[in-house]
Amino acid sequence: MIKKLLISLCLFFLSLNGDDGALLFYGNCATCHHETQAISAPSMFEVQQYYKNAFENKEDFIEYMSQFVTQPRLDNALMVMKVQKYKLMPILGYEKSVIKDIVTYIYDRDFTQ
Ligand code: HEC
Repeated sequence: MIKKLLISLCLFFLSLNGDDGALLFYGNCATCHHETQAISAPSMFEVQQYYKNAFENKEDFIEYMSQFVTQPRLDNALMVMKVQKYKLMPILGYEKSVIKDIVTYIYDRDFTQ
């Protein structure tokens, strides 16, 4: 049992390739945002698609999403229907630079893989 757990933990960290954004995403966002399933919050795939439709380039995507995650407010939320369904996301209290690393990972990641 413990052996199995250790092996999957190792595989998990190996799969991250030392990528800070990935580590931070799985440590801080994935508890609420599953990759593809909406459980206690919209899936990260859905959030990513919504933002990619809303912003033409990567810089705008990263800037807007980082701003929201740093300071979630009803008036800067894009997915207003989700706020009504799940309530507003809580403030997580990270530096904006850390959040930008996570958001860059979210932009680049293919959540369907
Ligand atoms: C405690 C649960 C929780 C955690 C942890 C969490 N979120 Fe959320 N998040 C939510 C919920 C619920 C919503 C939907 C309501 C809303 O939009 O505020 C949401 C919505 C969002 C949205 C869409 C905002 C919009 O425009 O409406 C983004 C982007 C987002 N989360 C990013 C993140 C990132 C990045 C992290 C990790 C750093 C994270 N979330 C961690 C619960 C969480």
